[in-house]
Amino acid sequence: MKRILLSLCLVLSPVLAGAAETPTADLVDLPKPNMEGGRPLMQVLHDRRSTREFTPEPISKEHLSNMLWAGFGINRPETGQRTAPCTMNLRSVEIYLATAEGAYRYDAEQHKLEVLGREDVRHLTGGQDYVKTAAVALIYVSDQAKFATKTQPAERDFYSAADTGFIGQNVYLYCASESLGCVVHMPGDRAKLGEKLKLRPDQKIVLVQSVGHPAAK
Ligand SMILES: Cc1cc2nc3c(=O)[nH]c(=O)nc-3n(C[C@H](O)[C@H](O)[C@H](O)COP(=O)(O)O)c2cc1C
Repeated sequence: MKRILLSLCLVLSPVLAGAAETPTADLVDLPKPNMEGGRPLMQVLHDRRSTREFTPEPISKEHLSNMLWAGFGINRPETGQRTAPCTMNLRSVEIYLATAEGAYRYDAEQHKLEVLGREDVRHLTGGQDYVKTAAVALIYVSDQAKFATKTQPAERDFYSAADTGFIGQNVYLYCASESLGCVVHMPGDRAKLGEKLKLRPDQKIVLVQSVGHPAAK
């Protein structure tokens, strides 16, 4: 009996140890982004604006997928490079999301959402009322550790803000093209939000962009 138990432990131990060391992330599939869509650029620029009144209607998975890809998706799979420029190609900024269903991280490599929690944390994403109604808050988070060996500490906030601005404008243009509304804004309680998003100390919340269906067309 002892021998049977011992061999069972030996067989199971690598499996159990492996499970503890590499927890598998809970991932949500997104539809393939549609790169054939969109209205002409000049019309989209004409319509780009900030929206601060939203209906509570969620946005479709197709919109979410296209918007994330437009924001900072991979447009050159051979190099992993993105739809927005970024400092030294370091890709320090990641897009986190808050919806009525929970909190997520956009995994651009897999074009999937990593589930971080099942709580609605939109109320923590900003100080204005619309943050609670807009279907999704895109939370732009810069991993300043990625700048560590290549930049001076005093430059890092500038690079994070610049990288975020390009992504935010891509999202503005996607929204204008699809008659969605959005506005970039300052984050609310950075500390509480960071906790819900399970951020490390090196990860800084730069800006938030609330997106949804506009209350008035
Ligand atoms: C860095 C930055 C921070 C902003 N912060 C806020 C904000 O906290 N709240 C808000 O309602 N709008 C915010 N905005 C949106 C601006 O108010 C808006 O872009 C500006 O009034 C021009 O309007 P438009 O986007 O419709 O052209 C911000 C924009 C930028 C670029």
